[in-house]
Amino acid sequence: MTVERTFSIVKPNAVAKNVIGAIYSRFEAAGLKIVAAKMVHLTREQAEGFYAEHKGRPFFDGLVDFMTSGPIMVQVLEGKDAVRRNREIMGATNPENALAGTLRADYADSLTENAAHGSDSLESAEREIAYFFANNEVCPRTR
Ligand code: PPS
Repeated sequence: MTVERTFSIVKPNAVAKNVIGAIYSRFEAAGLKIVAAKMVHLTREQAEGFYAEHKGRPFFDGLVDFMTSGPIMVQVLEGKDAVRRNREIMGATNPENALAGTLRADYADSLTENAAHGSDSLESAEREIAYFFANNEVCPRTR
C-alpha cells in the first residue's frame, strides 16, 4: 500500500474542548505521522476560500461562521493509505451516523460542529495542504 499524505483540521469546537492531544493520539495510534502542524484563526476570506466548492449551499454561511469562531489546528498526516485511514478515524460527516470510537462520535456537537475535517481524495489533499502550508513548512519525506 502506498504511503500518502492527507490534510486534517481539528475544528474550533474540538479545540475549545481541549482535545487536540487526544485527537493527535488517535492519528498516531493508527500509524499516521504528523509531518506539519500549526494553529490558525481563519478569516472569513480564508474559510470561504477553503470551502469554495460548497458556496451557494444552504449550510455555507453557517459553516463559515463556525470555522471562524475560534482557533483551529491544521496538520498534514503521513502514512499508508492515509486519506482513507484518516476518514475512518473521523467517522461519518453527520455525527448521528458516525461509528462508536470515531472522532465525530466522540467530539462532534452537530453536523456543522463536527470536530474534524479530512481530505476526501489525494487530489483534495494536495490542494488543501498547499492552501495552508508552504513547502518548507512540511517535513521532507524520509521513506
Ligand atoms: S457533501 O454534502 O457530500 O458535499 O458533504 P461533504 O463533502 O462531507 O462536505 C460538507 C462539509 O460541509 C460541512 N457542513 C455541512 N454539510 C452538510 N450539511 C450541513 N448542514 C453542513 N454544515 C456544515 C460538513 O461538516 C463538511 O465539512 P468538512 O470540513 O469538509 O468535513
